[in-house]
Amino acid sequence: AFDISNLRDQTGYVTLDRGYKNTGATQSAITFLDGEEGILRYRGYSIEDLAAKASFLEVAYLLIYGELPTKSQFDQFENAIRHHTIVNEDMRKIFEGFPVNAHPMGVLSSLVSAMSAFYPDSYDERAEDKTDLHIIRLLAKLPTIATWSFKKSQGHPVNYPKNTLNYTANFLHMMFALPVAEYQVDPVVAEALNVLLILHADHEQNCSTSTVRLVGSSRANIYSSISAGINALWGPLHGGANQEVIEMLEDIKADGGDVSKYIDMAKNAKQTGFRLFGFGHRVYKNFDPRAKIIKKAADDVLAKLGVNDPVLDIAKGLEEAALNDEYFVQRKLYPNVDFYSGIIYRALGIPTNMFTVMFAIGRLPGWIAQWKEMREQKEPIGRPRQIYTGPTLREFVSIEQR
Ligand code: ACO
Repeated sequence: AFDISNLRDQTGYVTLDRGYKNTGATQSAITFLDGEEGILRYRGYSIEDLAAKASFLEVAYLLIYGELPTKSQFDQFENAIRHHTIVNEDMRKIFEGFPVNAHPMGVLSSLVSAMSAFYPDSYDERAEDKTDLHIIRLLAKLPTIATWSFKKSQGHPVNYPKNTLNYTANFLHMMFALPVAEYQVDPVVAEALNVLLILHADHEQNCSTSTVRLVGSSRANIYSSISAGINALWGPLHGGANQEVIEMLEDIKADGGDVSKYIDMAKNAKQTGFRLFGFGHRVYKNFDPRAKIIKKAADDVLAKLGVNDPVLDIAKGLEEAALNDEYFVQRKLYPNVDFYSGIIYRALGIPTNMFTVMFAIGRLPGWIAQWKEMREQKEPIGRPRQIYTGPTLREFVSIEQR
């Protein structure tokens, strides 16, 4: 029987909810999510509608400021971002100190953290509030910084932003343009990227977003808070899963393509420690609406680009096998957003170790919106309680007598 005295701490009763499975940490007007029905809406607009009709920057504006922008609001927002895409050359000196094989997520979080040193008005509470400018800087500079890691891994010089291009095209230019020829952005690639970024833009109080809010609740500046969110995203149970999925699918391919062996290993997750990456979700217990859109996008993009990726067939085989297996059905484990996203990133030429960085670029508007809402709601500092399970009072024994 459950012993309620286990929930007692020194001062009274405390709710114990490991992993916050059923604890609301805040009230929020940004994202609506119904895990049973598989519904996701940003500020009331369905994810399906936004993915089909909006641009990523429109969605960013919607999340951050609460409404879709008018044409003039959008032009102003986009122009401001274009003006801030360049990154301080001294930041590049920091970047140059990283080893060539540094993981791009470690580099990204470090450099976003370093931004607070370059913009000290972000933490000077007596300075004029420049939150809007910090928001623009983050949105503008994150893609630039992200592309540096790729360029370095190739042994190529970095590409400066080309501000006549829009947000997604500029990112592709910084990634893939080479000095030998004029780089033409493929509209199929730009559109696929636009959809992926929109699908990742917010997801209410997930691990990284809760981290951003919690760090920000101590009144830490926006750069430090977002940097903390990037680190939280990196873990393989969260955003890092997109890299793990492709590596797992590659392993299955190298192993002869037999998905049933991997299904069996995952069914014994407790013994094998192996989980099917890209499967399961804390909130979605029916289907992940983002995964539906991404699966179709993966088919479309590969067909339009003429890419034949055997890994896509393995992914489909794995999904099919899991959906018909009692273990996965009983536990309501379905493919999540990360299951098919890597296949598209690969087709776009983005290397595997940058997949989680792509997620971070997409999630940035959500983190910003949630940080801003938390500040505007004047939320108290986040400070969970605990149930102490250690020893009771003990007498100190000097080192000679231990
Ligand atoms: N493969 C095999 N078994 C799984 C998996 C999986 N991917 N996910 C959950 N299970 C099993 C657990 O072993 C557990 O089994 P039990 O009832 O026999 O003990 C049961 O399903 C419930 O799992 P929990 O870990 O309690 O579920 P939780 O809500 O805490 O975890 C999570 C959700 C972390 C997403 C989990 O499903 C997982 O690890 N998935 C793989 C990693 C992944 O894809 N992460 C990305 C999530 S989406 C995102 O962050 C964008």
